[in-house]
Amino acid sequence: MNEIKFNVPLQIRESTTNVKNFLNSKLPPHGPGKNIMSIQREVNKKFNFKDVFLTNSCTSALEICALAIDLKSDDEVIVPSFAFITTASSFARAGCKLKFCDIQKHNLMPSFKDIKKCISKKTKAIILVHYQGYSINFLHELKKFCKKKKIFLIEDAAQAFGSYLKKKPLGSFGDFACFSFHETKNIHSGSGGMLVVNNKKFLKKVRFIFDKGTNRFLMNSNKIRYYSWVTVGSAFLMTELAASYLKPQIKKINTIIQKRSRLHNRYLNQLDKISKNNFSIPKNLNSKYNFHSFVLILEKDVREKFLKFLKKFKINAVISYTPLHKSEAGKKFFKKKKKLRNTDIYIKRVVRLPMHNSLSYNQIDYICKKIQVFFSKGFKK
Ligand SMILES: Cc1ncc(COP(=O)(O)O)c(C=O)c1O
Repeated sequence: MNEIKFNVPLQIRESTTNVKNFLNSKLPPHGPGKNIMSIQREVNKKFNFKDVFLTNSCTSALEICALAIDLKSDDEVIVPSFAFITTASSFARAGCKLKFCDIQKHNLMPSFKDIKKCISKKTKAIILVHYQGYSINFLHELKKFCKKKKIFLIEDAAQAFGSYLKKKPLGSFGDFACFSFHETKNIHSGSGGMLVVNNKKFLKKVRFIFDKGTNRFLMNSNKIRYYSWVTVGSAFLMTELAASYLKPQIKKINTIIQKRSRLHNRYLNQLDKISKNNFSIPKNLNSKYNFHSFVLILEKDVREKFLKFLKKFKINAVISYTPLHKSEAGKKFFKKKKKLRNTDIYIKRVVRLPMHNSLSYNQIDYICKKIQVFFSKGFKK
């Protein structure tokens, strides 16, 4: 068997054709142009996301949120320690304090209690990561709670494009939601992202921040003659060229997710049988989701041996996040005496198996067989 890559960026024929057509059209590659507008229309139609900004990464979308809510040095932002670096750094760079919260084993996301433990009078925002494209089941309650306490809820939906909680798409709960179209995601533009602004109060300000801190959108709609600098912003826009690659994938999102669901189930059917006492598989019950990744939670002290064993057979499985509250930059926000018990335990046990649309059933069967061998014979604690 040839090497099995952890990720192969999605490439569909329609994307290549659309990029070629776009380049041949000689339209300005910067944009925004018809590809960006078409994506905005499509996500509006599919998910009812009304105010959508296509960005050059999910990190940019998070940074826009941090600028929009105007964080002060005394403000606190709650973030799971089990998260991507920029989930936290996008807010830290705005000068506020971070409060890292713990997670639950069954879904690797915080419980309501984990979040409430971090609330104080200074809490300005809660950042919720929809890990694996899964959803916590108390999102409606959390939204109500945030509204009552005047705390902003920001969904880090980097991995969650196409996922739901019951019938409501992830990305429609928070004041803001940030998606990633990085090449490791289900659909992508190389690097790319999307900000959904659900809290209308911020729309005008986000428009300024998004376009380098200028009021150019007022000039574009003939409200002013020349644009100028009005607030702190940056160059966050996705280019039209990148959007021309992404657009056909948005149109085909259901087919892309269906393929992933078949791959996911192929894994599940084989691994569920051998998981007992060896590992657990976090599941997303009751809601439609996007099958972004396939995660195992191993027992204590197994991970290094497990990854090495798979590597011997050219299977590239990977770990997930490293703990932010213990990182060089993150630990200054974290009191030494505090403990994030589950994060400390499970962060060392998470493994992500290869998952991408080019994966074959053959490859999955091979991976599962090797995992079975590891637990039945090869592995000694
Ligand atoms: C939860 C989460 N947030 C944010 C990001 C950053 O996304 P991007 O690379 O599009 O900036 C990632 C990247 O994988 C992520 O997993």
